[in-house]
Amino acid sequence: MTQKPVLWLPRRVSDATIARAEHDYDVILNDADTPGTADEIIAMSSKVDAMMPCHSEHFSADVVAQLDPRLKIVANHSVGVDHCDLPALEAKGIAVTNTPDVLSDATAELAVLLMLGAARHAVKGDRLMRTGAWDSWSPSFMVGKQVTGARIGIVGMGRVGRAFAAKARGFDMEVHYYNRTRLPSDQEQGTTYHETIESLLSVADFLSLHCPATPETMDLMNEQRLDALPDGAVLINSARGALVDEDALLRAIQTGKIGAAGLDCFKTEPGGNPAFAAHENIFMLPHIGSATTRTRDAMGFRALDNLDAFFAGKTPQDLL
Ligand code: DGY
Repeated sequence: MTQKPVLWLPRRVSDATIARAEHDYDVILNDADTPGTADEIIAMSSKVDAMMPCHSEHFSADVVAQLDPRLKIVANHSVGVDHCDLPALEAKGIAVTNTPDVLSDATAELAVLLMLGAARHAVKGDRLMRTGAWDSWSPSFMVGKQVTGARIGIVGMGRVGRAFAAKARGFDMEVHYYNRTRLPSDQEQGTTYHETIESLLSVADFLSLHCPATPETMDLMNEQRLDALPDGAVLINSARGALVDEDALLRAIQTGKIGAAGLDCFKTEPGGNPAFAAHENIFMLPHIGSATTRTRDAMGFRALDNLDAFFAGKTPQDLL
């Protein structure tokens, strides 16, 4: 009998994923489910043929330089790959894949939750109810910003951006977008393209970020760009914390320039930015965009499909 490839699962992915993985691979599972450290990744590379990390395992150039040649493929259980130094992995001859498509709807759904929660004061309302502090009502009590019919600007019209646009259209929102390249007309579906991000910002009463974290998009929403939004705009980030200058956002929240923010991603994860907690108009969630049972199974299966193809000598569909 031919030997199965050895696969390291540094995190406890879904039960269905583990069951399928165990059928086809010799699995080493980190049952403790703690993030794989640099030392663990390096040590494990001489024991396994493949790894299925999440965005919590960092393959920096320094780590990659110390990987054992036994490791052949890093099949990410994530669409984002900003935790991987891709040129370093490529130079080392290690294949890298990700899991696009399967998490677009779950992430777009969460962006809608962030938008609504931020626009309608969900944090304050929840606090009032939980602490028994709801003691009055008036027509001016907790008045928020209406989503239906408002203008939404989307930065990044990839799969998640397009899924979010479809959901925003369900609210009759006027959808504007900025993308490096304009979408083909059959994909634009009534949205308005802006050639520059500045042009998009000037019309975006709501702004939702859906682009990857790269050196070019680091602090994309800096002080100047936040200032270019209409007064009281709502910022939504379900993509990556690296896209937002958090100090600039804090200042813009303090001055009221930004009316509210809905954030699922932070510069420091886990943990987030403690300074945000003092502001009830920042609605925050702990990086759970893709966290639905169906999507987590689909992500695990997509990563396994990539591994299966690789070990069958084919090109994995999500090879980067
Ligand atoms: C992704 O897939 O990139 C999500 O952020 C979860 O890691």
